[in-house]
Amino acid sequence: MFVHLRKFTEERYGAAAWTEVLAAAGLGSHVYLPITSYPDEELTAIVVAAAHATQQEVPALLESFGEFVAPHLIAMYRHLLKPAWRTLDVLEHVEETAHRAVRVEQPGATPPYLEATRESETEITIRYTSERRLCFVAKGIIRGLSRHFGEAIAIREPHCMHRGATRCLLRVERERA
Ligand code: HEM
Repeated sequence: MFVHLRKFTEERYGAAAWTEVLAAAGLGSHVYLPITSYPDEELTAIVVAAAHATQQEVPALLESFGEFVAPHLIAMYRHLLKPAWRTLDVLEHVEETAHRAVRVEQPGATPPYLEATRESETEITIRYTSERRLCFVAKGIIRGLSRHFGEAIAIREPHCMHRGATRCLLRVERERA
């Protein structure tokens, strides 16, 4: 997450932006390495500082980060995804493919459990739970996937942990081609 967040910040807001954000977050010149776990509080501090620096709300920043990171995730874990899969298929199988692999390969990494129910060819429901409450990232990743596959989708979130629910419910509908 940290490595991608750095890439996102630098590509979007310029080479100096990451250093400025770390300083504003009170984290000095910390170097974040891939495949290493860091405290959630640092992630929160960075996200809050980055939102402030770019004059946007935290949810908007998290969502655009998710959208940015989606193609990178797909590229990293391409070997686990069937070539014929599109947005809804990736979502349907993400738990038993990518997130499971991450848990095995990166001890300490705790991707969220995503429970997916394929309602129809064009609709899927995802239940998201995580103490990090990063459903904004989830929505961004979903948008990023749809952009990657060139598909038009609509996301609704009838239940959200930020509105008091125990888990977020994301309904994703794809427009028929
Ligand atoms: C190829 C696909 C994917 C890969 C390889 C992947 C991998 C990862 C990894 C490495 C993390 C960081 C975990 C940690 O450091 O503790 C993560 C977190 C996360 N993933 Fe995925 N992911 C994929 C797809 C998805 C999709 C489709 C969604 C949402 C629908 C999603 C939602 C999230 C969220 C919200 C987090 C933030 C952590 C949290 O909520 O607790 N991911 N993922």
